[in-house]
Amino acid sequence: MTRINDNYLKLQAGYLFPEIARRVKAFAADNPEAQIIKLGIGDVTEPLPAACTEAMRAAVDELSRRETFRGYMDDSQGHEWLREAIATNDFQSRGCDIAADEIFVSDGSKCDSANILDILGSDIRIAVTDPVYPVYVDTNVMAGHTDAANDRGEYGGILYLPATAENNFTPPLPTEPVDVVYLCYPNNPTGTVATKETLAGWVDWAKANDALILFDAAYEAFITTPGIPHSIYEIDGARDCAIEFRSFSKNAGFTGVRCALTVVPKSLTGKSAGGEDIPLHGLWSRR
Ligand SMILES: Cc1ncc(COP(=O)(O)O)c(C=O)c1O
Repeated sequence: MTRINDNYLKLQAGYLFPEIARRVKAFAADNPEAQIIKLGIGDVTEPLPAACTEAMRAAVDELSRRETFRGYMDDSQGHEWLREAIATNDFQSRGCDIAADEIFVSDGSKCDSANILDILGSDIRIAVTDPVYPVYVDTNVMAGHTDAANDRGEYGGILYLPATAENNFTPPLPTEPVDVVYLCYPNNPTGTVATKETLAGWVDWAKANDALILFDAAYEAFITTPGIPHSIYEIDGARDCAIEFRSFSKNAGFTGVRCALTVVPKSLTGKSAGGEDIPLHGLWSRR
């Protein structure tokens, strides 16, 4: 008999979103005039930009001709011209020391933020800011990094760092040992951005505590205030302690198209069971 992954039975999300929908419906019925800002599951609202649809048509034409057809790529990182353009325009233009061969193009940031757990140890302890994009928590539950949830929906073993009006939605640094912390700026769902000083505090903490930051910059294109970092790599030292996730879902309306990228700097290492420092770039390249 095939054994199931019992960790999936701990998941609460199947109950959470129907419950949010039920409460929103009841509130809307009782308050017909209310304009409700929904912080549940969302989607983009605009069609793809013309630059994208024109490039897609040209790419389909290329694939339809024997002379220009392309199949599998030489490596699993994505077209070099695309990674070069991303490295130049999204990172180096902002002073980030990120090269094209540290960029991995993928079919979605949700998948990457789940798959990254494959290269990390099975006994890691994670911290999340709270509230948080639920994927970080759920994928760690599935991977067996947590205990069951309590009646507030909080999983045992996870360190929750509250983002509240009292702390201006900027959670404190962990005071307990954790191996991995998820940061999302601009934040889903609070919309908060992080200043250079805030991110520098996180990088210093991660380096001092041998922790890994998983930085989700899915909404970076919406930062308009000068001086607010778009990437964790705008902070000195981040190359040694952070992986960054980016997505084309929000800035180009690609939620259905599926295209994203993950940056794994070559200088970033983790410990093997034997105590050896192993570059995470090499592990991520193998998948
Ligand atoms: C913070 C955050 N990261 C990642 C994603 C998912 O991105 P993708 O569509 O590339 O999987 C979302 C989608 O809602 C998100 O809110």
